[in-house]
Amino acid sequence: MKILVTAGPTREHIDPVRFLSNPSTGKMGFSIAAVAQQAGHDVTLVTGPVFLRTPVGVNRIDVVSAREMQSRVIEQFPNFDVLVMTAAVADWRPQNKSSTKLKKGEMSDTLKLVRNPDILKSVKKLNDVFAGEAKYRKFVVGFAAETGAPVEEAARKCKEKGLDFVVGNDVTEKGCGFGTNTNKVVFVFPDGNVKQFPLLSKISVARKILEEITNQLAKNAKNGKIKL
Ligand code: PMT
Repeated sequence: MKILVTAGPTREHIDPVRFLSNPSTGKMGFSIAAVAQQAGHDVTLVTGPVFLRTPVGVNRIDVVSAREMQSRVIEQFPNFDVLVMTAAVADWRPQNKSSTKLKKGEMSDTLKLVRNPDILKSVKKLNDVFAGEAKYRKFVVGFAAETGAPVEEAARKCKEKGLDFVVGNDVTEKGCGFGTNTNKVVFVFPDGNVKQFPLLSKISVARKILEEITNQLAKNAKNGKIKL
């Protein structure tokens, strides 16, 4: 399969030396890319700024902001069978970005923000068009980073973003979420079913995700919903 994975944070610059971002290190997304590549798939990683080596054999596209990530994902999506959206995309960006470093006297004490596009929602629109023309949809997996039990919010995001399943994680739980080598996730499906996993290494979580994708695609192929 051709698998597109996003990873890491996005940065929303105020000026060349200041930005808004989040603590994503890319470990979760890079683990998925590595595991998928090792399983023989053709993998491309669209990543925000992180300090990780590209897994051997994976094609890497570097981006900085949410809007850049959106254009690269939308541009690549038609060429792929599967998208796994692990990136922690910033929901807002500063309304104005200065091309030179702002001096303290030039800076206001308040920062006006505007909403960033939701990448998965724009992918959903594209997938609807694709489903009309090619008669089947591409397989899309999202993540849900929550501070507390993730199932309810993950289920909402699954419906709203038209996903095949969502990987929910409580980023406040010990050993979970940002920067850790482990994660505890729950898969939430559009029909409301859930699959809960114990604390595992991010590599093992990545294997579970790939296994779920492979099983579901095989089922869809058997039911004639897709051609493999
Ligand atoms: O990188 P690590 O340090 O290993 O950390 C892993 C992780 C915590 C980043 C990862 O496990 C995780 O939870 N990723 C999703 C982070 C996130 O942005 O969650 P969200 O609930 O805000 O977004 C829901 C989904 O919509 C995500 O698939 C996200 O990629 C996507 N999204 C969000 C905002 C936006 N503007 N466009 C999007 O497409």
